[in-house]
Amino acid sequence: MSEKNISMHVEGLSVRLGERYLLKEVGFKLNSGDVLGLIGETGSGKTVLIDAIGRNTASGLSMEAEKLDYMTDGQTIDMLKLKEDELGDAIWGKKLTFILSNARSRFSPIMTVGEQFINILKSNTNMTSQEAEKKAREMFSLVQMPDPAQNMRNYPHELSGGMIQRVEIAIALAMNPKFLLADEPTMGLDVTVQRQILDLMDGLFKKMDSTVILATRDLGIAANYCNKIAVLHNGNIVEFGDVKSFFANPRHPYSRYLLKIAFVANDKDPKFGQKVYRSEKDTEKKGCFCSGSCERIQEECLKKIPDLCRFPDGSFVRCSQYECGRDEHGCFEN
Ligand SMILES: Nc1ncnc2c1ncn2[C@@H]1O[C@H](COP(=O)(O)OP(=O)(O)O)[C@@H](O)[C@H]1O
Ligand code: SF4
Ligand SMILES: [Mg+2]
Repeated sequence: MSEKNISMHVEGLSVRLGERYLLKEVGFKLNSGDVLGLIGETGSGKTVLIDAIGRNTASGLSMEAEKLDYMTDGQTIDMLKLKEDELGDAIWGKKLTFILSNARSRFSPIMTVGEQFINILKSNTNMTSQEAEKKAREMFSLVQMPDPAQNMRNYPHELSGGMIQRVEIAIALAMNPKFLLADEPTMGLDVTVQRQILDLMDGLFKKMDSTVILATRDLGIAANYCNKIAVLHNGNIVEFGDVKSFFANPRHPYSRYLLKIAFVANDKDPKFGQKVYRSEKDTEKKGCFCSGSCERIQEECLKKIPDLCRFPDGSFVRCSQYECGRDEHGCFEN
């Protein structure tokens, strides 16, 4: 990866609930224009990771990192050094926007969604009230909001979950952010609207050369809209790399399992779907979390959690069967 295009550099990012790690020493680099698909089953840590990268970790959880740098306009923003009021004033809503999966909780119940949209636009841009109102209406139409004028006048409780999600997306896109952290942004929307909105986001972010992290359980969305993939299992990234190589030749057995359950739903093999990967509850077991079900298991896999094996193109996998530095070396056949 060319160092000069790097737009996000994360190292040693962990989130804990007391002594329990919800995210463990996560690290990767992204370039400007990259759309990283963050995939993993429910509870794997997608939301915790998205929040931590945006310095928006829920209260009660503790976050630590060696590096959390955003690079834009020739400057490096060291997110770890910024205080909350500085993040609020200069970063959130301006350089970085979120699309959260629990969008409704972000809206005040006592103001119409239109008023809230206009206020956000005015406080984060130089727009006048008239310009902000015009922009809000345009964005409502862009995200296929039915009857935009009426829905601008509605309160959050008068909108369905899908419509609130569209308002959230409309606000995020109106900011033209250099960085977007999107947590299952189109969940709950019907498939046609999902595709229209993802196409719209795709076009806007290509134009802006934005860096996007898109958490999704839908591997079809990841395959169609992302150029990089990170596979999360129990707060660890077990595989990271280019989307084409990932779908053509996933390296980690758990990645293969995710692909199988996503794309081979009618598999005739009676053993299909019975693979059980160890969950966070099996704390007494040592070694790789795949050791109960991996057909390539060796003695060393049971002794300790495998180290990351990094490849020259920036991709990596957490499996002891790979020899670091040799991109073509893989022990698992398709
Ligand atoms: N605020 C929190 N307090 C306690 N535990 C949490 C909190 N947020 C997430 N977790 C736990 O962290 C793990 C990862 O959760 P999450 O990131 O929401 O998963 P995903 O988004 O992949 O479904 C889960 O075990 C979840 O229960
Ligand atoms: S480390 Fe061992 S058990 Fe884990 S995925 Fe690799 S080969 Fe399988
Ligand atoms: Mg989540």
